[in-house]
Amino acid sequence: FSFKPALQLAIDYFNFHKDEVQPTWTSPCIDRHHMAIWSPNKTCQSFPKLIILGPQKTGTTAVHHFLDAHPSFASNRNTQHHFEETQFFLTEYHNGIDWYLDLFQSNSSLINFEKSANYFSDARVPHRIRKLFSNIKFVIITIDPIDRAYSWYNHMKAHKDSIALQYTFYEILNLSPLNGSHWRRIEKFRHRCLDPGIYIKHLSRWLRFFARDQFLLIDGEEFKQRPHLAMNSIQLFMNSSRFFDYKNLLVYSAKKRFFCLKNRRCLGPSKGRTYARLDQRSYIYLRDFYQKSNAQLANFLNKNLFSMPSWLEKYL
Ligand code: A3P
Repeated sequence: FSFKPALQLAIDYFNFHKDEVQPTWTSPCIDRHHMAIWSPNKTCQSFPKLIILGPQKTGTTAVHHFLDAHPSFASNRNTQHHFEETQFFLTEYHNGIDWYLDLFQSNSSLINFEKSANYFSDARVPHRIRKLFSNIKFVIITIDPIDRAYSWYNHMKAHKDSIALQYTFYEILNLSPLNGSHWRRIEKFRHRCLDPGIYIKHLSRWLRFFARDQFLLIDGEEFKQRPHLAMNSIQLFMNSSRFFDYKNLLVYSAKKRFFCLKNRRCLGPSKGRTYARLDQRSYIYLRDFYQKSNAQLANFLNKNLFSMPSWLEKYL
């Protein structure tokens, strides 16, 4: 017999069970033993029933803002680090489920929800959500991935990101692989710009973790023109006990060039920015870049009985 020291045993264990290196929060609500030792002040009612997954720059803030105005829906409180988004399943995961729960109201008649637009394209998130609540529902918004990528680049530029300021959009797209930390940063920037728009890659991953019926896909182009349709469909999807026809709640603002909630402050200047039109060679580059994944997406949507977003039809 040879006994190994505790530390060595732990190292051996995690070498063997690599999938357990990252701790995963599981729900106390599905196990009566866990419930028995959970604080009586805590309630499973606080967990969100809906998550708007993103991706970024598709209109997620507007959907979140409009939904929050519905008396049956309640979004999370703001956290110290992020405005509006919780980012719990990413950067805030180490804070634990009490931290997450405290962001939501415990009123059982409300549909708690959150929106964190980076969840959609991060491979860690579906597993983490599945472990915590497997019955949750999701909203995903898609727009033409070309527009999404360009909007993201302009968003970074407005935030004075050094790479966005230094390189044109076309230069970022045409990055030739080179070594060195500067180039690695540009490569990372390019990846963050383009990868979320490979919708099929991320959507098919989500559907490996959750059932088809847990997802509502919103056509972001239609949302811009007729947002009430998407907002009404979210209420039906969530079986909301109160139904508000958003047609009566939203008005078009010629100044913002968007729909806004009647008698409420519209979204701030960071939404609906004006920037130069996309140049032709970047467009052609991106049209080719996304061609295959768009075609795969169309097949996947058909097969899984999702309706085809209007922007995708032009590529078929
Ligand atoms: P632009 O800034 O490129 O115009 P997100 O909130 O997911 O980051 O998305 C921001 C994008 O939402 C904006 O991109 C804008 O086009 C779009 N959007 C769609 N409907 C909107 C609305 N009613 N109000 C504000 N932005 C809206």
